[in-house]
Amino acid sequence: MNPKILEGKVALVTGGARGIGAGIAEVLARAGAQIAIGDLVGGKHTAYRLADHDELDATLARLSNAGVEPFSIHLDVTQSASCNSALAAVLDHFGRLDILVNNAGIVRSGLVGDLDESDWDQMFAVNSKGLFLMSRAALPALKESQGAIVNIASVAGLQGHAGMSAYCGSKFAAIGITQSFAQEFAGDGIRVNAVCPGFLATAMWLDHLLPASDAEESQEERAARFEAMMNKMVPLGRPQTPDDIGEAVLQLATAPNITGVALPVAGGAIMR
Ligand SMILES: NC(=O)c1ccc[n+]([C@@H]2O[C@H](COP(=O)([O-])OP(=O)(O)OC[C@H]3O[C@@H](n4cnc5c(N)ncnc54)[C@H](O)[C@@H]3O)[C@@H](O)[C@H]2O)c1
Repeated sequence: MNPKILEGKVALVTGGARGIGAGIAEVLARAGAQIAIGDLVGGKHTAYRLADHDELDATLARLSNAGVEPFSIHLDVTQSASCNSALAAVLDHFGRLDILVNNAGIVRSGLVGDLDESDWDQMFAVNSKGLFLMSRAALPALKESQGAIVNIASVAGLQGHAGMSAYCGSKFAAIGITQSFAQEFAGDGIRVNAVCPGFLATAMWLDHLLPASDAEESQEERAARFEAMMNKMVPLGRPQTPDDIGEAVLQLATAPNITGVALPVAGGAIMR
């Protein structure tokens, strides 16, 4: 693949202030794209802390080191007005949009009897409805550029798990939305695919999903425990990295005759 295959293209990555979204933005920047990051920096979630300004600044600095001048926008993907104004800001700044990566997402585990209705609603608002609001806002620009959408679903969108009904349901929905958009937008020359990440040491796992340990643990010790657990569980012998997910997004964003797929990037932990 031409290392600068995205030269002259513009990508918007939602939830790109840290974690997987930041990794995706870096891979797309290395491929030559101009990058816009949209994130609810400083936003509230009941289970763990969302991205803060320091994390966003660190990501913007890494993107600058990769040779781009990133543009960042405050965005709440659950609000239609916020999606519309983020899109308008990207077009105002860069003049075009070629790739929309719907990566923003939240998780909260909990058995059905313990799960608050508001947490259920919030997961579907971000992980499922967010794809609709953001993609609808981007549609005219993507028609013009003959661009692509990549939705970040999850292996949790391919297999249900006890204690994960809201998250899994919202990610199954993300895959259904991906397939429906792929059919609906094909005639407009817009391809729509999903990546299903496996297990990454981001806030979702380290600050929420990883079971508590008996000992007082530092963040480094937690990260090492996560890594050891995944080394045993994942057939390829390691957890995934934001770079792994970014490479898959780049492949799907540039594959001219692929639309409607949901690609697991999970080291063989799930095979579809
Ligand atoms: N970490 C994993 O193992 C894993 C596995 C499979 C799928 N995923 C998915 O990958 C995506 C990224 O997750 P991550 O692991 O990097 O988690 P993360 O919490 O580090 O990143 C999520 C980002 O989304 C932002 N965000 C949350 N709500 C938002 C909203 N309403 N509007 C805009 N931005 C919002 C947060 O501020 C944060 O920067 C999510 O869709 C997640 O479901 C993660």
